Amino acid sequence: MTALTLSTAAAAGLKADALVVGVAKGDKGPVVAPGADAVEKAFGGKLATVLETLGASGGEGEVTKLPAPDGLKAPLVLAVGLGAVPEKGESFDTETLRFAAGVAARALSGTKKAAFALPAESADEVGAIGEGVLLGAYSFDAYKENGSAPKASAKKNGKGPLAEAAILGTKPRDKAAKAAIERATAVAEELNRARDLINTPPNDLDPEAFAAVATAAGKEHGIKVQVLDEKALTKGGYGGILGVGAGSDSPPRLVKLSYTHAKAKKHLAFVGKGITYDSGGISLKPAGHNETMKCDMSGAAAVLAAVVAAARLGLEVNVTGWLALAENMPSGSATRPGDVLRMYSGKTVEVLNTDAEGRLVLADAIAKASEDKPDAIVDVATLTGAMMVALGSRTFGVMANDDAFRTSLYEIAEASGEPAWPMPLPEHLLKGMDSPTADIANMGERMGGGLVAGLFLREFVGEGITWAHVDLAGPAFNEGAPFGYTPKGGTGTGVRTLVALAERTAAGDLG
Ligand code: BES
Ligand code: MN
Ligand code: ZN
Repeated sequence: MTALTLSTAAAAGLKADALVVGVAKGDKGPVVAPGADAVEKAFGGKLATVLETLGASGGEGEVTKLPAPDGLKAPLVLAVGLGAVPEKGESFDTETLRFAAGVAARALSGTKKAAFALPAESADEVGAIGEGVLLGAYSFDAYKENGSAPKASAKKNGKGPLAEAAILGTKPRDKAAKAAIERATAVAEELNRARDLINTPPNDLDPEAFAAVATAAGKEHGIKVQVLDEKALTKGGYGGILGVGAGSDSPPRLVKLSYTHAKAKKHLAFVGKGITYDSGGISLKPAGHNETMKCDMSGAAAVLAAVVAAARLGLEVNVTGWLALAENMPSGSATRPGDVLRMYSGKTVEVLNTDAEGRLVLADAIAKASEDKPDAIVDVATLTGAMMVALGSRTFGVMANDDAFRTSLYEIAEASGEPAWPMPLPEHLLKGMDSPTADIANMGERMGGGLVAGLFLREFVGEGITWAHVDLAGPAFNEGAPFGYTPKGGTGTGVRTLVALAERTAAGDLG
């Protein structure tokens, strides 16, 4: 991954292959953003005019490359658009900086070293730029012939990501800026690990392989890892996880990751949906709906990343991660529509649609997680197409059994740069899941399908435990073109919200 450094070196003297500056959209044309003084000087104060001549406006996401004039050591200047000039006395918001840094890092793939002379006064701004760079530089080329995966050919003629990024500042760097860089590095590295897991094809990432990755990551960072295999799951009565995995030749797993801190006062449990491939099962998905279903373990990937990041940051909070891993396949041994499963909680579920499998694996994991009596449980899942229809492909829905917690989580997500929106759990939708045979059915009314799924999960939350449900079916996987610091494919959505929740909980800001 890209190496991130902080530098006080004046932009003019810094040895780099490219210099990144910000350009904002002013009323009368492009305006060079603060932080680029040395570059401005080298251009004789005419950088904005030069940019305007080249057709630049300063619009968000815009990239303009220009040769550097004498006086700068870097041969190339890259001006990245920041959007509107902030109101007087205000600065660019952190997400604007994160987005622009990501755009620039992506445009600089194949470059060895770039210096970022963007407006970075506060530690928060430095951290956001760092995150943007590391996330924007991400690429997944493991399966390309010239890729970097162990199995791929060693021949390397691809461009490769930006190798090194130096964040420049006008002020001498303090401890806070250094800490912000360390945090950005830990979070982005783990988030990029989640992206790798999501992008890995399902023939190489089955539940067992995923559990092995979690075990290795836990070992590396002092996290206790327990893996329940199919035998242990049978013994424990995990009917939901087993029922979903029954049709696959690759048996299911339930992974528990326990990060603890001696001074922790609170305990959070994160539960991730980890369907390594969702074919729909006997209720088979039609062509056109199954090509991206390797992404159905994005929740579990986010949970793994968040727990490891919390450990790397040494947060003063206990965090337990639960990965509910199964492959949903049709076969002679698969669960049928009409089957009744006895869940870990003891409740029975009539499976009316085997494609509503996420709620079944989550229900077992949530019930199990409840036994530890954590202060809060947050589950993260690519749960319903309905949530995608409701909120689009970039925003996740947040539901909860506690209004204040739902609001907090939504606000934390937005502040982290992850678009989110609070969604209700209307009681009347419960009735639709009545089953003549079992305690509850795994499907209800079609309308409000995302909320129905949330209501189903709520039935498995332990008495008196605060719980929230994040449905990221939309933003987990980017089928469109890359934007900002978001690549095509697995996005790692959810990681930054979970990490920020852990940080806020450690700081005593919540409940
Ligand atoms: N994994 C899917 C949801 C999904 C859809 C995720 C699109 C990402 C992109 C989930 O398991 C599913 O199939 N849900 C069904 C539920 C229905 C059968 C009640 C759905 O949304 O259609
Ligand atoms: Mn499904
Ligand atoms: Zn699914």
